[in-house]
Amino acid sequence: MTDRYALIGHPVAHSLSPRIHHAFGEQLGIAVDYGLIDAAPEDFIAAAEAFAADGGAGLNVTLPHKTAARALCATLSERARRCGVVNTLIRGAGGWHGDNTDGAGLVRAMTDYRSLDLRGRKVLLLGAGGAAQGVAPSLLDAGIDSLWIVNRTPERADALSDQLGEPARVHTRYWADLGNLGVFDMIVNATSAGHDDGAMALPSTLASTRTLAVDLSYGKVSIGFMSWARAQGCEPTFDGLGMLVEQAAEAFRLWHGEMPDTRPVHEMLRAEAASLQNAG
Ligand code: ATR
Repeated sequence: MTDRYALIGHPVAHSLSPRIHHAFGEQLGIAVDYGLIDAAPEDFIAAAEAFAADGGAGLNVTLPHKTAARALCATLSERARRCGVVNTLIRGAGGWHGDNTDGAGLVRAMTDYRSLDLRGRKVLLLGAGGAAQGVAPSLLDAGIDSLWIVNRTPERADALSDQLGEPARVHTRYWADLGNLGVFDMIVNATSAGHDDGAMALPSTLASTRTLAVDLSYGKVSIGFMSWARAQGCEPTFDGLGMLVEQAAEAFRLWHGEMPDTRPVHEMLRAEAASLQNAG
């Protein structure tokens, strides 16, 4: 019987993850059974356990369960421990093992796929929730010069900074002070503002034409930040599709032991996104 895998989140209906994992499987001749589980927060643990009891071998975890997933784990990878949130679960004899492939996925999408150099960059991280926690350690490991964490609720920015434990490179500032921070080489939108149409008013002083602007979301949710970045002349700008493909590849490797070639999958999704835009 083929091992079963799934994405668990709320909502998950429009996720591209099943297509990505099936494309990887086809490429490598590995039969993949990857589905979707929509579980409200109060049902998360029961849904994950029911999946395991039914032969589930691995789960990808998305909004809003990444912190709860960590608590579910019997063991954690070093990088999951460092970021405090889990996006990939692997079922073993002793229960769930938790990992986080988001940060590696983001960095690989920028460096391997887009051939950008992150070293030495002054980076603004907007947000301090699960998405921000997932990518912050990998940005530091990629050799950035400094990480400025700004969150609407300042206590969460401080908590993330404490967790990262690199006071020389990690700084927090108030949202109201965004206009006084100067220009950044890279801005990462890790807020969920786009989910509820909560448009963020960002000062134009944050960006120049040389600022690399990245949204960790993709599709409609990323439109607000991406439009702001383009209006500042940031070139190029990236939504989270690249990270989505790369974090999936890393999860695929953990589950199946083989690393897929991500380039054809990036190209397939980009072509589809372009044709959708052309069709209006
Ligand atoms: P995720 O897993 O996507 O990070 P989360 O843990 O709920 O989800 O975190 C959402 C992040 O988006 C938080 O940093 C949140 O700020 P608060 O901690 O102040 O709630 C941020 N966020 C959501 N809506 C926002 C908005 N309209 N403006 C600015 N930040 C927003």
